Amino acid sequence: MLLKDRVAVITGGSSGIGRGICLEFAREGARVVVADVQEAPKRGKYHEQETATPTVTEVKKLGAKGLFVPVDISDEAGVRGLVERTVQHFGGLDILVNNAGIHIPGSSQELSVADWDRVVGLNLRGIFLATKFAVPHLKRSKIGRIINIASIHAFGGGGGPAYAPAKAGVVNLTRDTAVELGRDNITVNAICPGYIETAIQDYLTPEQIEACRSRTPLPRLGLPKDIGRASVFLASEDAGWITGVALTVDGGWRARVG
Ligand SMILES: NC(=O)c1ccc[n+]([C@@H]2O[C@H](COP(=O)([O-])OP(=O)(O)OC[C@H]3O[C@@H](n4cnc5c(N)ncnc54)[C@H](O)[C@@H]3O)[C@@H](O)[C@H]2O)c1
Repeated sequence: MLLKDRVAVITGGSSGIGRGICLEFAREGARVVVADVQEAPKRGKYHEQETATPTVTEVKKLGAKGLFVPVDISDEAGVRGLVERTVQHFGGLDILVNNAGIHIPGSSQELSVADWDRVVGLNLRGIFLATKFAVPHLKRSKIGRIINIASIHAFGGGGGPAYAPAKAGVVNLTRDTAVELGRDNITVNAICPGYIETAIQDYLTPEQIEACRSRTPLPRLGLPKDIGRASVFLASEDAGWITGVALTVDGGWRARVG
C-alpha cells in the first residue's frame, strides 16, 4: 500500500474526480477526509447517472477509515474548521488535495460579476485558503503533500473568462507554494485533467461530447480513477523529488496541434 495510514483531505470528494481520488487513496490505505458542501454524490445527465452511495461508505467498504466534513471551500471560517476537525479526528494531516471546483458556462457578456466571483472564489481563492490553514500541520508530517486539481484550460483560452484564468492561476499558485515549502520537504504539484466523465459536463451537448471523444488520441474519455491514480503517485514516496509541476492527464488531448 502506497499511502498506508496517511491522513488525506480531499475537497469536493463527494462526486466525480474528488470521489475517484478518495477511492484510490482508500485502496492505498490512506485515512480519507471527504470535504464537500454535500454528502450525496452528484448525478449527471451523461455520466455518473447511477452513482448513489456517499463516498465515505465506499471508502469504508474498501477497509479504510473515512470521515465526511460538510464545508464550503470558499468560506474562510469553514475551511479553518475543516482542518481543525481533521486534526482532531485523525491526529494530523499529511496530504491536501485541492479538487473542489465549479464551471459556470458563458462569455464575458453572459457571465455575471457575481458568477465570476463564485468561480474564482472557489477554484483559486479556495485553494489558497485550504493551503494556508493546512500548511502548519503538513509541516509536522514526515511526507507533506499538496495536490491541486487544475485543468488543461490553464494553458489556453476557450474555457470561459472565469474558469480558464482561475485554472491558470492554480498552476502558478502551485509553483509559488512549491518554492515556499520546498525546504519543509512538502511537495506541491498540480494535475491538469482533460475531459473526465463527471456531472460537471452536463452543460455540454451530446455532439460536443462526441467531438471531445474524437479529438482525444487515446480511444476513450477520462475517468475519475485516472486522476485518482495520478494523485496516488504524486502523494506517494515515489514522487518525493517532484515538486512545482503541472502534470497533464488528458488522453493525449494537448499533444495534438490545432
Ligand atoms: N471533469 C472534467 O473534465 C475536469 C477537467 C479538468 C478539471 N476538472 C476539475 O476537477 C475538479 C473536480 O471536477 P469534477 O468534474 O469532479 O466536478 P463535479 O461537479 O462532478 O464534482 C465537484 C464536487 O465539488 C463539490 N463542490 C462544489 N462546490 C463546492 C464548495 N464550494 N465547497 C466544497 N465542495 C464543493 C460538489 O458538491 C461536488 O461533489 C474541479 O476543480 C474541476 O474544475 C474537471
